[in-house]
Amino acid sequence: MDDQLAKYRNLVTLPDGTRALMRPLVAGDREGLVSLFAHATREDRRYLRDDVTDQELVASWAENLDYGNVFPLVAVVNDRLVGDATLHFREGARRHQGEVRIFLAQEVRRRGLGTQMLRALIDLARNRGLHQLVAQIVTDQGPVIKAFEELGFEQKCTLPDYFMLPDGSTRDVTLMILQLVQYRGEF
Ligand SMILES: CC(C)(COP(=O)(O)OP(=O)(O)OC[C@H]1O[C@@H](n2cnc3c(N)ncnc32)[C@H](O)[C@@H]1OP(=O)(O)O)[C@@H](O)C(=O)NCCC(=O)NCCS
Repeated sequence: MDDQLAKYRNLVTLPDGTRALMRPLVAGDREGLVSLFAHATREDRRYLRDDVTDQELVASWAENLDYGNVFPLVAVVNDRLVGDATLHFREGARRHQGEVRIFLAQEVRRRGLGTQMLRALIDLARNRGLHQLVAQIVTDQGPVIKAFEELGFEQKCTLPDYFMLPDGSTRDVTLMILQLVQYRGEF
């Protein structure tokens, strides 16, 4: 199955004509990934879970690949890595779930690429037999929550003060779930 993930390729044309190749992150993307996150703005960094100014940390994501644990899908435009969307698999009681996270370079935002990358991860999750996809979005990112809703995610609850910004202040997090398998009243 991980082999199938490794072979994934998807070439998409955005509404403005830009062509983007979506494929798994590979070890050779180390510099491209470091560069993508090095260009994150201060505002972006406030809402990212990890300190992406730590280049060793970002490099380690490309160096320690394990698609069965985290599947990182990247978008490449004109040979440049411009997006990273990850599908995190779970174990035990949460083995039916996956979690998605996404980050795009500023210059490719609002051109439909985020939607395409998330659709690709949703398809992969379905093929993998997952029942639910989870996304945790800082509640004050209204437009992002709306974009996830457009893809079918539903707001399930708000986790008060769940996220701490670099300055130490806290924000609520909206837990969103996309149900991939409908449970019926079967017995
Ligand atoms: C969130 C993110 C992935 C969206 O990707 P994108 O390629 O810009 O999204 P799309 O172009 O597919 O747009 C989908 C919808 O998102 C909404 N949206 C996303 N960002 C928005 C913004 N800053 N302002 C207003 N609407 C926004 C819009 O409704 C948009 O639809 P529209 O362009 O038809 O109005 C991207 O902005 C990003 O990487 N942000 C920083 C990281 C982040 O917040 N990640 C999400 C947490 S998991």
